[in-house]
Amino acid sequence: MSVFSKAFPRSGVLSLKRGLNPRLIIIFTLLTVLLTASVILLWERVLRPPYYHWVARNYPGAQNAEHRYKLEQRGEHFFISMAVDVIVVSMLLAIVGRKQERLVAANEQLAHSEKVATLGRVAAQVAHEVRNPLAGLLLYSEHLKSKLDGKTQNGEAQLVDKIIDTINNLTATTEQILNFARPVTLAPKRLDLNTVAQDVIQLLSTEIAAHDIETKLELDPSPVAGMLDEPSIRAATLNLVLNAVQAMSNGGRLTISTGTTGGTLWMEIKDTGAGMSPARVKEIFEPFNTTKSRGLGLGMPYAQKIIQQHGGQITVESQQEKGTQVRIELPTNGRNAQ
Ligand SMILES: Nc1ncnc2c1ncn2[C@@H]1O[C@H](COP(=O)(O)OP(=O)(O)OP(=O)(O)O)[C@@H](O)[C@H]1O
Ligand SMILES: [Mg+2]
Repeated sequence: MSVFSKAFPRSGVLSLKRGLNPRLIIIFTLLTVLLTASVILLWERVLRPPYYHWVARNYPGAQNAEHRYKLEQRGEHFFISMAVDVIVVSMLLAIVGRKQERLVAANEQLAHSEKVATLGRVAAQVAHEVRNPLAGLLLYSEHLKSKLDGKTQNGEAQLVDKIIDTINNLTATTEQILNFARPVTLAPKRLDLNTVAQDVIQLLSTEIAAHDIETKLELDPSPVAGMLDEPSIRAATLNLVLNAVQAMSNGGRLTISTGTTGGTLWMEIKDTGAGMSPARVKEIFEPFNTTKSRGLGLGMPYAQKIIQQHGGQITVESQQEKGTQVRIELPTNGRNAQ
């Protein structure tokens, strides 16, 4: 992060729409004092002595005194105007650059949201078309099974069971796609992220034990509570923890930490699993982008959609062969919840 970004974070200290705030005025005053002092020192200590020396050498004697004086004055004016120009232009360029950065980020976010929405709509349409025929197939298969009951041999009835299992799996997949595509209406009420973390660990205890995973809960001793939509936050957290567990097929450590910083609730889910390359990390919020044979690639985009709908954010840091850390941040007051 550049010094400029630190002084003017994304919260938009420079945003004229929000008006000038005292912090901005103090920063600019200090900056101006500092720059003026530096320009004066640079002129007085570094540039002026050799320049005056050059003038005195080339225009010696009393007859050149006036000329010398003019040259010295012009040199000083020239230097000060140049210094001010350079400083002002650099600041303007920095401001324009920062605005452009924000514009590019906003465009990328827009393109991503449009892509997610389009993919979601298409997938939902297909899932919707498939759902009714699947329900019909299930009925026929169950009817067939009851007709065959006791009349078949050599495990033929098991074939019908396999058909029923396959139909049930397909139905579950279409339901998952429809759940992702459906707009979520948030119903915020008081929810403690500590409870969510504990419940999710409990829910996944069989998978955790099966993968030989050590779990560590580093929960804030005080409730990490805010106005949140319980079902969607639970589902999003479950997806994230499930990903962490699935990334540690050969065992590892799962750490869930929580806390409150200012008006923000946060939860970090850390695993010591396979990790991801930086290129892969960039793609994980794209729907249907999966590396798993039985995955749909909807867990991460769903979690992102829910967290963003709450006015929060989700960030992922990962290192191949070392592990992944997913951090979610949510506003305490649910002010942004829609
Ligand atoms: N903790 C993690 N460690 C390593 N890779 C991860 C992690 N979390 C996500 N990924 C990668 O991101 C991809 C997308 O994750 P996402 O949860 O969206 O879908 P999925 O887990 O593949 O399928 P599902 O729809 O069942 O969740 C995964 O296939 C995996 O490659
Ligand atoms: Mg997943």
